[in-house]
Amino acid sequence: MANRRQSRTNRILSQLDGRSIVLLGMMGCGKSAIGKMVARRLGLEFVDADTEIELAAGRAVSDIFAEYGEEEFRRLEEKVIERILEDGPVLLALGGGAFMAEPTRQIVAKYGLSVWIKVDLELLLERVGRRPNKRPLLKNGNPKEILTNLLEIREPVYAKAELHIESKGGTKSEMRNVVMDALDEHLKVSQ
Ligand code: S3P
Repeated sequence: MANRRQSRTNRILSQLDGRSIVLLGMMGCGKSAIGKMVARRLGLEFVDADTEIELAAGRAVSDIFAEYGEEEFRRLEEKVIERILEDGPVLLALGGGAFMAEPTRQIVAKYGLSVWIKVDLELLLERVGRRPNKRPLLKNGNPKEILTNLLEIREPVYAKAELHIESKGGTKSEMRNVVMDALDEHLKVSQ
């Protein structure tokens, strides 16, 4: 078991060949929780884009939205992601809107393997409902309507990611194993 796990890890790392892994998807899909566990297994540094933006700006994401607006947040987001990936390899979790920007998609394609964590509306609602104040985009209206609209706009763009992984919930370690297997399979066939 431990040997099989180790050889899967070694295979993934050798096939990545210095590229980063970039997790994307809607807020609440589990990018950060899953990302931390996959990073630990691969021995890669885990970086959360929102946390880096907060460090760069010296304030919380919700305060950046409130003080400077979404457009300024997106500008900062693009710059910070570019810097993180240039300094990689890392396992990077993007904020839900980051992959919508064409320059970010190009940077991600240049330095990393993009992985979409796909989660349905019901599960997202359950997850984001637990921390309603964390998400500025959900503050002004009905979360179900907002998420439904965002999904409609974003899913066709998220679908440009190299690898798609569906999450039906489950524990973090189950999801880590699903992601590790999917990475292994994808990298084997895309060799
Ligand atoms: C956003 C998602 C958030 C954060 C910001 C905007 C979005 O990140 O970047 O609130 O546009 O979906 P998470 O996906 O990590 O919640």
